[in-house]
Amino acid sequence: MESPVQRLRRGALGAGDKVVARVARASGTTQRQATGVDLAVAAVLQDRGTRDLHDPASFVELLRTCWEPLTLDVEDSGGDQLLFSALVDHLRTGVAPLPVDISLAAAEAADRLLAARTPYDRSALMTDVGSHARWSSSFGHSARFLTAVVRCLRARTVVEVGTAYGLGALFLSDALARGQEPGRLVTIEAGEPQKSLSAGLLADRGNVTTIRGRTPDVLPEVFAQTGPVDFLFHDGDHSKDAYVADFEASLPHLAAGAVVVFDDIRWEDPFALRDVRTAEGWEIVSAHPRVARRAEVGGRYGLLMLA
Ligand SMILES: C[S@@+](CC[C@H](N)C(=O)[O-])C[C@H]1O[C@@H](n2cnc3c(N)ncnc32)[C@H](O)[C@@H]1O
Repeated sequence: MESPVQRLRRGALGAGDKVVARVARASGTTQRQATGVDLAVAAVLQDRGTRDLHDPASFVELLRTCWEPLTLDVEDSGGDQLLFSALVDHLRTGVAPLPVDISLAAAEAADRLLAARTPYDRSALMTDVGSHARWSSSFGHSARFLTAVVRCLRARTVVEVGTAYGLGALFLSDALARGQEPGRLVTIEAGEPQKSLSAGLLADRGNVTTIRGRTPDVLPEVFAQTGPVDFLFHDGDHSKDAYVADFEASLPHLAAGAVVVFDDIRWEDPFALRDVRTAEGWEIVSAHPRVARRAEVGGRYGLLMLA
């Protein structure tokens, strides 16, 4: 029997059939892309070898998340901010893959980091640096979301709250360097060994400044350096109080049209040691009179555009 795609080619489809044909074409494309990702990963592995890797399977997985087909669910308040609408469309219809060189650099950095067995025993966490880095870092899908924000909103001055081990900052720095007008990133980290390890990873990135300290103490110094900020990525203290305090301290320094991303807007403390309530914090910050548009991305990120 003739398929919808064949019938489309000879112009014999009705409206319903056209939808079927579009779905068939899209799923065919997705399958081809998935195969393409495998071929690309195989080519990279053949080129660089795997002998020095601590965890080849995680390395492959990280590369896949940088390149595989990705769409994100977005709940958007709606509005007439064109760049914001373009970002929402981009996230819903297919988030661009990352360039090979930065994907490879991040996968290599992550492989070294995840193998680190140095004890990490801050607060309730008795673990090692590798395990802590695994659950606290941004990898492929998050990196693609952050890169899309920089690219679609043409951000040039970015502040990241919570550097951790520097992986999110590495991707942000790359996205900023590739902009039509290259931009810069200031990233803030309160803890060790995160600050030292991230500073090492980011040392040769010419567009990144790393700052040691907690946001209440260092935000004034940061904003004195940056001038008006057009993208604030809040990924530090995941709590209602910190969302609100850091947002309020940042507001006078956020440019008109600036975007703010809060990570983990539905965060529950896995150890139930703190009353974090980030969902409440998200409702408070997104109700601020300067907020012109809000969206929730993948049930995880809160995205605001300011007037
Ligand atoms: C989830 S991790 C950040 C991940 C990183 N943004 C990435 O994309 O890879 C959170 C980090 O924020 C740091 N942090 C928590 N509260 C902070 C504060 N008030 N000021 C600065 N850093 C903070 C923690 O030490 C931790 O390393």
